[in-house]
Amino acid sequence: MNILITGASRGLGDAFARELGKPNDTLWLVSRNSPPSLSLEDGVKRHWIKADLSSAGIHAKIAEGVSDLDVLIHNAGIWEGGAFSSGYHFEKVTEAETRAVLELNLIAPILLTQALLPKLKTSSNPKIILIGSINGVENAAMPEVAYSASKFGLRGVAHALREHLRDQKIGVTIINPGSIAWSGNLEREDLIPPNDIVRLTRSVIETSRRTVIKEIDLPAMFDSQV
Ligand SMILES: NC(=O)c1ccc[n+]([C@@H]2O[C@H](COP(=O)([O-])OP(=O)(O)OC[C@H]3O[C@@H](n4cnc5c(N)ncnc54)[C@H](OP(=O)(O)O)[C@@H]3O)[C@@H](O)[C@H]2O)c1
Repeated sequence: MNILITGASRGLGDAFARELGKPNDTLWLVSRNSPPSLSLEDGVKRHWIKADLSSAGIHAKIAEGVSDLDVLIHNAGIWEGGAFSSGYHFEKVTEAETRAVLELNLIAPILLTQALLPKLKTSSNPKIILIGSINGVENAAMPEVAYSASKFGLRGVAHALREHLRDQKIGVTIINPGSIAWSGNLEREDLIPPNDIVRLTRSVIETSRRTVIKEIDLPAMFDSQV
C-alpha cells in the first residue's frame, strides 16, 4: 500500500504518519517541516516530500517525487488567527489570511488531486480522502468565515470528484471531524482522540471498490454546535 499524506509534520497528519502504515507500506509525507515520524523504525517506509502546498506549480513537482499511489489523504489545513477562541474577529482578518486559508485548504487539494490522478488510476483499490471539518457542515454555527468557506468548499470538491471518478471506481470520501486533541492534551474528555480518525480512515481505505463511503461527520461527543 502506498499512501500520500499532506500536513504530516504534526497534529492529525502526524497521527496518520505514525499509525496508518503497516510494515512494507510506503508513506509519502508532505509538509514544510520535517515529520518526526521519519525516525520510527517499524518497517514502514516513510519519505518526506518537503513542499509548501500553497506554492504555484508545486503539485506537479510533488507528483514527480511519488512512484505508485493507492491512497491520497488531503489533511493539511490552516485557519484564521484567533480562530476557535474569543480572539477571533471576522472584521480583523486580513486579506492575506483569507487568501492563505482558501489557497491551502481548498485550492491545493484540487491541484494535487489533478497531479496525482495518473498514479492513483493504476492502483487496484484507489481512494481519495479529504479531511474537512464540522465547520463545513450545515448548521455548525461557527463564526470563522474563510475556514468555514474552505471546508464547505472541500465538500463540493469531494462530491464533484466522486462523480468525475465514478466510472473508474476511485472512491472519494470526506471526513468532517469536530475538535481534535493534539499531543499536548490527548487526555481531554471533550476532544476527539486522533487515533479514532486514524481507525476510521483505515476502514475507508479497506473498503472494496464496489462501495463508496461519501461523507462522515464526526463531532466530538461534547461539541455543542452540531
Ligand atoms: N484540530 C482540530 O480540532 C480540527 C478539527 C476539525 C478538522 N481539522 C482539520 O484537520 C486537518 C489537520 O488539522 P491539525 O489540527 O492536525 O493541524 P496542525 O496541527 O496545525 O497541522 C497542520 C499540518 O499542515 C501542514 N501545513 C500547513 N501549511 C502548509 C503548507 N503551506 N504547505 C504544506 N503543509 C502545510 C503543517 O506542516 P508544516 O507547518 O510543517 O508545513 C502541519 O503538518 C486540517 O485540515 C484541519 O482543518 C482539525
